Amino acid sequence: MVNKYLPFLSIMLLLACKPEPKIKSIEEVAIIPQPASQALGDGYYIIDKETELILIGDENKVKPVAKYLNETLIKTSDFKLKSIVSDASVDPNNSLVLELTGKISEEESYELISSQSGIKIKSNSPAGLFYGVQTLRQLMPTRLTTTKTQPDIHVVVPSVTIKDEPRFGWRGFMLDVSRHFYGKEEVKRVLDFMAEIKLNRFHWHLADDQGWRLQIKNYPKLTSVGAWRVDYNTHDENVSNWWGRPAQRKGDEATYGGFYTQADIREIVAYAKERFIEVIPEIDMPGHSQAAIAAYPEISCTGGPFYVATGGVFKDNTYCPGKEVTFKFVEDILTEVMDLFPFEYIHIGGDECNKLSWEVDPDCQQRIKDEGLADENELQSYFIKRVEKMINARGKNMIGWDEILEGGLAPNATVMSWRGEKGGIASARAGHDVIMTPSKYCYLDLKQGHDDLEPNLGYSYSFMKDAYEYKIISDSLTEDQGKHVLGVQGNLWTESLADWDKLTYMAFPRMHAIAENAWTAESSKSWKGFANRLQSQFKRLDAQGERYATSAFNVWIDHKGSDKSIDVSLKTEVEGLDIYYTLDGSEPNKNSTKYESEFAINKTATLKATSFSKGEQVGNVSEKYFPIHKGVGAKVIYRTPYDKGKSAGGQNALIDLNYGILTQGDAAWQQFNGDIEVDLVFSEAIEVEKLEMTTLRFTISGTYPPEYVTVLGSVDGKSYKTLGKTNQLLESHIQGRNKVLTTVNFQKTQLKSIRVIAKSINPIPEGHHKVGTASRIMVDEVVVY
Ligand code: ACM
Repeated sequence: MVNKYLPFLSIMLLLACKPEPKIKSIEEVAIIPQPASQALGDGYYIIDKETELILIGDENKVKPVAKYLNETLIKTSDFKLKSIVSDASVDPNNSLVLELTGKISEEESYELISSQSGIKIKSNSPAGLFYGVQTLRQLMPTRLTTTKTQPDIHVVVPSVTIKDEPRFGWRGFMLDVSRHFYGKEEVKRVLDFMAEIKLNRFHWHLADDQGWRLQIKNYPKLTSVGAWRVDYNTHDENVSNWWGRPAQRKGDEATYGGFYTQADIREIVAYAKERFIEVIPEIDMPGHSQAAIAAYPEISCTGGPFYVATGGVFKDNTYCPGKEVTFKFVEDILTEVMDLFPFEYIHIGGDECNKLSWEVDPDCQQRIKDEGLADENELQSYFIKRVEKMINARGKNMIGWDEILEGGLAPNATVMSWRGEKGGIASARAGHDVIMTPSKYCYLDLKQGHDDLEPNLGYSYSFMKDAYEYKIISDSLTEDQGKHVLGVQGNLWTESLADWDKLTYMAFPRMHAIAENAWTAESSKSWKGFANRLQSQFKRLDAQGERYATSAFNVWIDHKGSDKSIDVSLKTEVEGLDIYYTLDGSEPNKNSTKYESEFAINKTATLKATSFSKGEQVGNVSEKYFPIHKGVGAKVIYRTPYDKGKSAGGQNALIDLNYGILTQGDAAWQQFNGDIEVDLVFSEAIEVEKLEMTTLRFTISGTYPPEYVTVLGSVDGKSYKTLGKTNQLLESHIQGRNKVLTTVNFQKTQLKSIRVIAKSINPIPEGHHKVGTASRIMVDEVVVY
């Protein structure tokens, strides 16, 4: 151990033994989640190969934590610490001590003292020791997190005294492996990340309409059939096709999928346990079960045939609670599941159950009659209550999504509140335990930034600041009711996440925000402090080559078109950053124009902007093209009407320099419920050579790009002749959500007016969203060059 703060004599002595190492940097103390208390000391301590790892306390309990430390913490530094089991009488100086003290408890609190003379982590529980180790890891050099070995690294740990404990016992993360399958090694990686930020509940969404992912020995078809679907996956982040994929047809080959064998599950469970993470398997029922009924149609109402859903469009996807065979199936499955997961909770889903088939199914109707149930909601409740009995009989507890409140809550159920907070609040008031996961704050599949500046992966919004500041225990609960709130959880649904990079992009850093909200006492939280500390976490993720979102630091570009110019305002979600921008297409830097307040663009420009904090660039470059075009000021004649009820902008919406963003709610989109035919009449003849228009694709609500766009011109404002035409028949029929640019080029011509005809899809054919109707067209601007 070498320490530059030691008295002069000691330094001379030490230098005589070995040379002073070159210390590249001492890590800033920037721990996430923020500890309960933290006091910085002077100097630092260096862990090197001579450092002894001293283990004090119950050997069986301390050793696994020491093993984890040696395996993961130091794995990149080409040395391993020699560990010595000792007792409290040992001189802990010049060593790294893990001490399990006093009476062993379930608490997760710990103390970490790092000083010039050594490091000590102390706790009453192995979990606490483990969290102390995680904090220590975050005090170590960022580059230690890299996956490459760093032979000459000096593990410099700043002096600090930390006392820490979590606010909530349930600090969860849910991963959906049905919509896209993530293999065993990827799941382990998720568990590693959870452990690093002290999350302790892994909710594993193992079965849904699009894939059954868990081997069940008594029902082999669940995985031989239910784990596979036709592959319409896309890795292109500009395309969002989940909700518009064609269903599997007879003869189609189901090639995408995968599942975990029971041996895999045992391995992952053991891995999670080493990280003090409980695993909660979710087998979603009685809805969201198309993969299961594709394998065993006899547990459905109609008997099928069914196919594993290829994406988000499905109809009949429920178990039949009218038939006894269904309950036998559920009990058999849950028996195997409960054997595999040695933890307290089993999650049975219960959400979004489509009960239409129950309404007409004779067995369901008979069950309603026999059991004296009022309706299908009570039938669902009957189903859930029977399932709860199976789980309770094994000494375990059942969790369900908040829909299990409908028709009456099962007596011992724990509720996961996702459709806002209402379900959680009602359940806590009724004396049930709850876990808060309201989508606005906890759904990591939702967009985390500006619609046009994010990859096209999410829908709706869940911003990091909202996640961070979410008040987990509602003020509307009494203190006693509040005790039923076990904690909070981030949920990552993977409909649009076909690969690992997309997964991490959506998870990080909102997962950090949720972790801090779950762990850190409200009084110790600070959004500003958190945003600062994130920079260190980003460096760690960089060192590991993981993708993450800087959305909260990226510049939002908002604009408002007016007569001849565009007013632009810039902002970032994290306050207090310096924004610099350019208008000539060059990359912005600190010598670019600094943004002070809203400004006007008077001629066509490509705006690029980024943000800085303490002189370092912290955001990506945000970019937007703003054409100021020849159509501005023209008279607009609508030969087909726009929808006055829906569209903002009115008469001049197509030439008002307001450009739409990728969301239907944006007022810049003018809506036509069918074809568009519109004239732009200029005040005098002008030279024209190109027309561009962007339309919105949002097929789930019937908004499609046009099939054809024809541009006609007139020199006298009376007779028109065709200048150009695009055929985008194939493109217009694609299902999904994005913006589509149509360009029509033609010979340079002097024109008094121009006519645009855009053909909608009419009728929308089979296999498309909103079949049978005329598609609507949403267009923001007719851009004339
Ligand atoms: C859910 O998001 N359907 C629980």
